Amino acid sequence: MPSNERIPEAYRTGYQDFYGREFKVTPDVLIPRPETEQIIDQVLILAGKPYLPGVKPTERELSKNPIILDVGTGSGCIAITIKKELENSKVYASDISKEALNIAKENAKNHQADITFVESDLLKNIDITPEVLIANLPYVDPGWDWLDKDSLSHEPALALYADDHGLKLIKDLIKEASSRKVKYLILESDPCQHEEIEAFAESHDYKLYEERGFIQTFKYD
Ligand SMILES: C[S@@+](CC[C@H](N)C(=O)[O-])C[C@H]1O[C@@H](n2cnc3c(N)ncnc32)[C@H](O)[C@@H]1O
Repeated sequence: MPSNERIPEAYRTGYQDFYGREFKVTPDVLIPRPETEQIIDQVLILAGKPYLPGVKPTERELSKNPIILDVGTGSGCIAITIKKELENSKVYASDISKEALNIAKENAKNHQADITFVESDLLKNIDITPEVLIANLPYVDPGWDWLDKDSLSHEPALALYADDHGLKLIKDLIKEASSRKVKYLILESDPCQHEEIEAFAESHDYKLYEERGFIQTFKYD
């Protein structure tokens, strides 16, 4: 049983800030983390948009109306933020958890973000091929000796832990994305996993395009 003393602030208030917007959260979804915000920066860079005031935009890599898919959307924070920041995009968001999708739908409604939600195990029920596939999937290895399991005990295990030292779902997704030749893959994981993910992605035709903090971006080659 999780200890009551350390109930995260976001579950007490029911809200968490992400990229300057408030998102409803319940114990059915992961509390959005600051390191995940770099995914948004990366998408804006690919879209040739400045991600900070005063930063000169780079050349646009994406098409004008890119199709973007966020796998394992949880609260919907990534998908909704992208739709708000990149109005010309068509955004899909999926999760294996019905309960999480319900929260994500509520957040999309609150932010008036037009998003297509799909219940799916990775890409199984997804019938489109996105130009950009984003995933902050569970990547925590319960065996990490630095892990403070108590501090994570209020969040859903389904959102945190994965087999194969935390890499099972990420590797399965890379395989599925590669078989569909998805052009850009933006993945979050712990930096200690980056080398192994890069090698695996390379063996599935993905070259590392950029790395920022917890985020790796790969391009189909
Ligand atoms: C680390 S949380 C990320 C939530 C949100 N994207 C964020 O960044 O805050 C991972 C999410 O992946 C979902 N998930 C777990 N296994 C999955 C699978 N096989 N296919 C799709 N989603 C999955 C979980 O339900 C959870 O919502």
